Amino acid sequence: MIPTTASIMVRAMTPSDLDGALPLSQAVGWPYRREDWSVALGLGQGVLAVADGRIVASALWWPYDDRFATCGIIIVSPAMQGRGLGRMLMDHLLAANGGRSILLNSTEEGRCLYAAFGFRDIGTVHQHQAWLPADTTLTPPSGDDGQVRSARLDDMPTILRIDENAFGARRTKLITEFLRIGSAAVIERNDTVRGFAICRPFGLGQAIGPVVARSTEDARSLIRHFLQAKAGEFLRIDIDGESGLGDWLTAQGLPDVGAVTTMVRGTRPPVPGPDRIYGVASQSFG
Ligand SMILES: CC(C)(COP(=O)(O)OP(=O)(O)OC[C@H]1O[C@@H](n2cnc3c(N)ncnc32)[C@H](O)[C@@H]1OP(=O)(O)O)[C@@H](O)C(=O)NCCC(=O)NCCS
Repeated sequence: MIPTTASIMVRAMTPSDLDGALPLSQAVGWPYRREDWSVALGLGQGVLAVADGRIVASALWWPYDDRFATCGIIIVSPAMQGRGLGRMLMDHLLAANGGRSILLNSTEEGRCLYAAFGFRDIGTVHQHQAWLPADTTLTPPSGDDGQVRSARLDDMPTILRIDENAFGARRTKLITEFLRIGSAAVIERNDTVRGFAICRPFGLGQAIGPVVARSTEDARSLIRHFLQAKAGEFLRIDIDGESGLGDWLTAQGLPDVGAVTTMVRGTRPPVPGPDRIYGVASQSFG
């Protein structure tokens, strides 16, 4: 442990902290379940501020290689905000990441904090969500919907390659974990897989993401697959602000409930295309 003030300690997060961390996300109105904290920690690392044995702040990060990471779940307990804890945890997070470029999706409250550490705005992510009634009528399917099928085990290498092309770093651990807890669909053209989407339990229901495709039409077909498969459940999808999917999702019954600002410190890895991220894995994972 690193003593920081008389009563606040900063230390690494471990699985034994999950129960103590859950009230933190609940206190700021985030829908994380204990399982969601567990997945997030299992895929990365975290640092906590602890006061009198109680977890009062968190910051997690996910290094994808030795050049690039994302970070998130940066939360300071409401009663402890405005006392420099956010800054303190960012200092630890940046030191732990060495020279890596770091991407995050910031709430309005976090932007000043991140800008002070050299993060700059590069885009937006929009959160669409709703309970979809079981008898939901989706807009007429496109002819391409027939090209969507459930992913098989032997699709994994292709899914990983497409995801890397679109994200800029290999995410084997994340994709493997998402497939363990959720399910994937792929879209084929001429017997070749050209895109995929994963849907997994998260928060109040199910979250669709990542969605990686070569066109908006293909992204829609992939998303529609899960809107149909999961109708009757609470569904969430976080889309790139430039994806062109916002109005369409709203028309499907999933309105835009808020946006966050994508910020990067350093440089985001270049992506060669044409594979592109339409829906992020989550606001934290990018
Ligand atoms: C964002 C958050 C982590 C900041 O933590 P904090 O401990 O209150 O921040 P600090 O006291 O270290 O302040 C750091 C800077 O952020 C600014 N800041 C803090 N809270 C702010 C708010 N609500 N609105 C605008 N700026 C804010 C401070 O003014 C300070 O800037 P300054 O040094 O130039 O004055 C905290 O408000 C929080 O947990 N919010 C709810 C969850 C959230 O939105 N997290 C961000 C997810 S990306």
